[in-house]
Amino acid sequence: MTNAYQQAYDASLQDPEAFWGEAAKEISWYKTWDKVLDDSRKPFYRWFAGAEVNTCYNAIDRHVEGGRGDQAAIIYDSPVTNSKRTITYAELKDEVSKFAGALRSLGVEKGDRVIVYMPMVPEAVVAMLACARLGAVHSVVFGGFASNELATRINDAQPKVIVSATCGIETTKVIPYKPLLDHAIELADHKPAATIILKRPQAEAELIAGRDHDWAEIAAKAQPAECVPVAATDPLYILYTSGTTGQPKGVVRDNGGHLVALKWTMKNVYNIEPGQVFWAASDVGWVVGHSYICYAPLFHGATTVVYEGKPVGTPDAGAFWRMISEHNITALFTAPTAFRAIKREDPEGALLKNYDLSCLKTLFLAGERSDPDTIKWAQTNLGVPVVDHWWQTETGWAIAANCVGLHLFPVKPGSPTKAVPGWDLQVLDEGHHPCKPGQTGSLVVKLPLPPGTFYTLWNAEQRFFDSYMAEFPGYYKTADAGMIDEDGYAYVMSRTDDIINVAGHRLSTGQMEEVLASHPDVAECAVIGVADQLKGQLPLGFVCLKAGVTKPNDQILKEIVALVRETIGPVAAFKSCTIVKRLPKTRSGKILRGTMQKIADNQDYKMPATIDDPAILEEIDESLQEIGYSKARKEAVE
Ligand code: COA
Ligand code: AMP
Repeated sequence: MTNAYQQAYDASLQDPEAFWGEAAKEISWYKTWDKVLDDSRKPFYRWFAGAEVNTCYNAIDRHVEGGRGDQAAIIYDSPVTNSKRTITYAELKDEVSKFAGALRSLGVEKGDRVIVYMPMVPEAVVAMLACARLGAVHSVVFGGFASNELATRINDAQPKVIVSATCGIETTKVIPYKPLLDHAIELADHKPAATIILKRPQAEAELIAGRDHDWAEIAAKAQPAECVPVAATDPLYILYTSGTTGQPKGVVRDNGGHLVALKWTMKNVYNIEPGQVFWAASDVGWVVGHSYICYAPLFHGATTVVYEGKPVGTPDAGAFWRMISEHNITALFTAPTAFRAIKREDPEGALLKNYDLSCLKTLFLAGERSDPDTIKWAQTNLGVPVVDHWWQTETGWAIAANCVGLHLFPVKPGSPTKAVPGWDLQVLDEGHHPCKPGQTGSLVVKLPLPPGTFYTLWNAEQRFFDSYMAEFPGYYKTADAGMIDEDGYAYVMSRTDDIINVAGHRLSTGQMEEVLASHPDVAECAVIGVADQLKGQLPLGFVCLKAGVTKPNDQILKEIVALVRETIGPVAAFKSCTIVKRLPKTRSGKILRGTMQKIADNQDYKMPATIDDPAILEEIDESLQEIGYSKARKEAVE
């Protein structure tokens, strides 16, 4: 029997142009497209070529014009500052138009880049939408990245203006952002013409005359700006994500395809109606924050939530339950790690009894693999469907999900259910042949990718091709390994590259290795991801010292940990490192990171046939036991 999911899925693959052309009717266009899908330059596909549109108009103005002016657009709830604020669609239009005017007064026009380096405050969303209003291209940088990472992004994106705040607040710690920003600008070769700084009462900052502007002052003086029509294929934003080297990849999203796909997901994937409250407990610095804090809920006329807090400690493990009941939240979207944190503090779910959660209809999890224990805990305690769904910064929305708005399939813990309409998901083996059901291989998507996905990497079209399109011609390589079972359920097992996933945050071990190698006493190094019960994975470093180093080992290790924090940022969560005499390698000199990871996690492993010197594995094992890994592991890991 075909259900609504199957019908939509089949239709989307049989005739993608008809399927997405129909979905595009939900969007307000200045000019419709010449072609739904321009495939004249494969594999560089473009959606809605020839159309003109404005993303901000579709997020705000059309809802005000359509009678939603008094409805909440954004609910801001900040337990770390004890403040709450509701912003209606009409108020948001006002704020965004003024801030767009402020950006324009500093010379920002269509196509110019603006970096947004902000904590979780509504002004971060205002800044993103203001860029979209002008047709400018925003690039949001997560607040947990250090100056050096920000500088790399400044050099690549070449922003005219940077928008930031005096500080962010991490539970009880005030993190001054302005010194980080100043240092980043100092480090960068490209200098922005201006910055706009949101002054927060928790931290002051000195503004540099002629360069830095106070948000409140410049917005008050500005002439409100109207929406600027842009080509549907023009870039809306750049979002940097970890690659295999220290140079991050600037994922570029367009305006038209992004509007069509994200609006479509709100009903079909998340089963949300306009007017309902949708909460993505993430950060605007990540793709989840872009798609489901800032954009999709607003495209849909729903209410979005900006939460400045943690799942635990602000003030307790009942924080999410308070949010849901107080703000009448229909669907919550977060990372499994947040639920593991809650479960660790409140294993029996005792705090749930203090709140009425009858408004909550579904819990969505993504960002990392959902472990069956966490899914079961959430199902039992919340009594709603728990939907794991799989996606990536590059894809912008879910590749596989239980599309609740189309058809709710039985949940198989460990699987993000089925490929979403639009995604021709397949599993290929090393010889590029299709795998049988249940057989693990490379998860790939047959081109074209649906709208709303990335269409290039900023300033790096060749890297886009080489990284994603070259290995399996005609397919997008997800760099995830997995399988599809007899029932069509997808399973995502592990990355095929050196990316690790720490608390739902994507990090590159290759990038960390570059930092370790830059320490003057380090001759050689390796970083692997080890299993962690709370964060899923944690990075662990191995270093071989240069001959003749006399500094105490403890001091060197402390310096290395500090160096990663200073260079990449606290988000790297790099806290463990050990000194070894030698690294295990193949005869051709490749470091055997996979085997080291298995030893660290106390898993069985096969001696690699190509290993140069098997004795080194025993040395590694001993060093790992000394720091509590391998056979000395206290925590049972999956
Ligand atoms: N600005 C500055 N610093 C930040 C930051 C920000 N925006 N975000 C995180 N950090 C810091 C943290 O304070 C921490 O610093 P520390 O080493 O001094 O303790 C460090 O970066 C690591 O952060 P994190 O890995 O998030 O650990 P945590 O202990 O602070 O919190 C969780 C752990 C599980 C509670 C938290 O990661 C979480 O809520 N995750 C789920 C939601 C989510 O973020 N999902 C993203 C993808 S959907
Ligand atoms: P990011 O680009 O930061 O969103 O990270 C994307 C990566 O996170 C994917 O390639 C996967 O490795 C992992 N990931 C995200 N969601 C899931 C999921 N639901 N199940 C398994 N892995 C996931």
